[in-house]
Amino acid sequence: MKILVVGSGGREHAMAWKLSQSERIQSVFVAPGNGGTALNTYLKNVPITDPIALAEFAIREQIGLTLVGPEVPLANGIVNIFRDKGLKIFGPTKEAAQLESSKDFAKAFMQRHGIPTAEYQTFSDLLPAHAYIDLKGAPIVIKADGLAAGKGVVVAMTLDEAHAAVDMMLSDNKLGDAGARVVIEEFLEGEEASFIVMVDGKNILPLATSQDHKRLLDEDKGPNTGGMGAYSPAPIITPQLHARVMREIIQPTVQGMAKDGIVFTGFLFAGLMIDEQGNPKTLEFNCRMGDPETQPIMARLKTDFVTVMEHAVDGTLDTIELEWDRRTAMGVVMAAAGYPDAPRQGDIITGIPDDNADSITFHAGTTLTDKQLTVSGGRVLCVVGLGDSVKSAQKHAYETVEKIRFQGAQYRRDIGWRAINKKH
Ligand code: AMP
Ligand code: GLY
Repeated sequence: MKILVVGSGGREHAMAWKLSQSERIQSVFVAPGNGGTALNTYLKNVPITDPIALAEFAIREQIGLTLVGPEVPLANGIVNIFRDKGLKIFGPTKEAAQLESSKDFAKAFMQRHGIPTAEYQTFSDLLPAHAYIDLKGAPIVIKADGLAAGKGVVVAMTLDEAHAAVDMMLSDNKLGDAGARVVIEEFLEGEEASFIVMVDGKNILPLATSQDHKRLLDEDKGPNTGGMGAYSPAPIITPQLHARVMREIIQPTVQGMAKDGIVFTGFLFAGLMIDEQGNPKTLEFNCRMGDPETQPIMARLKTDFVTVMEHAVDGTLDTIELEWDRRTAMGVVMAAAGYPDAPRQGDIITGIPDDNADSITFHAGTTLTDKQLTVSGGRVLCVVGLGDSVKSAQKHAYETVEKIRFQGAQYRRDIGWRAINKKH
């Protein structure tokens, strides 16, 4: 079978890498792909991003199945376009993708279906937004309604920051249409975890749990980023908590969407906040896999991923079980100089060792030209280490990271600290 993976990040490299290991695969195309997918002889980059042109490519190449990585093509309706042409694709329709593409849609949905989440209100006018902030006090969280590439959430610790965030979005239009409406919500405290499942319209198949690190600097300091590292499994998700998240969040979400007349298919990713007492609330939904969560998750998946994807598009996820490597996988992101505000491009990358049983390097913002790898995006690489303990996974990841060179490389030295502290 021929498979197409849409996207160009570390998440897509990891999914394509896993698919290419299947004996049932003829070709894996990645559109547009990156330097790492270009280097892999089992993968083929396709320089197309327009969804209609991609559907035409899929017809021409007789692609059996398409898998979508990022949120933007999903929100733009790539699944609707492919299905209209009779093509098999795994992901949510444009309507279902609103769970991620509109925070107001997601919050109203959760409220309607009794899914635990922070208290909130939505505003498109300045004065009532400022008044609501004064009424509720700080800390408080301001979120742009639409997709803002990770820049749409301000966790305001003071009233001044909160008012400034509202002005930035509603008055200065810094985020364009995405910030034309804002969700203002209660600040939640606790520990975050990423809970990702596959949904075929009715059956739900949970993937291994994971946790990422959103801040740029060690000790969770510095600005928010797309994610500086992630590991799987997440020790905070005990079997009891897992069952509870399925019962209180994931199942009501899939059933609620169906009740509202929108069948959900695709990856469903609940970003959770777990409080001191162990109660989970939903911070946000994504309707795709996480990046960098996918990299350690794919590194642990033992089941043939092509078979899993076929069950997903055929609506038979209830007939398959996933097998996971029992080891911990830890992904450390190496980012470009200037990331996240103004990542510098063009730096030459050297020293990436061959993958081995303990370490795999996934590419994100890299380009291959004349056999030379250069930096072409904010998050450049994600090095995954595997080990029998969190510590040994971490050691294997950092041993590889330290061999890789590019000017201005930024990475955290403490990926996995929460999990390591828990094990003591
Ligand atoms: P989101 O894109 O909604 O996941 O938000 C990005 C990050 O902002 C999350 O990963 C959290 O670290 C933080 N965040 C979002 N909502 C809240 C909240 N209600 N309380 C505290 N932190 C939050
Ligand atoms: N790592 C979080 C995300 O993919 O949204």
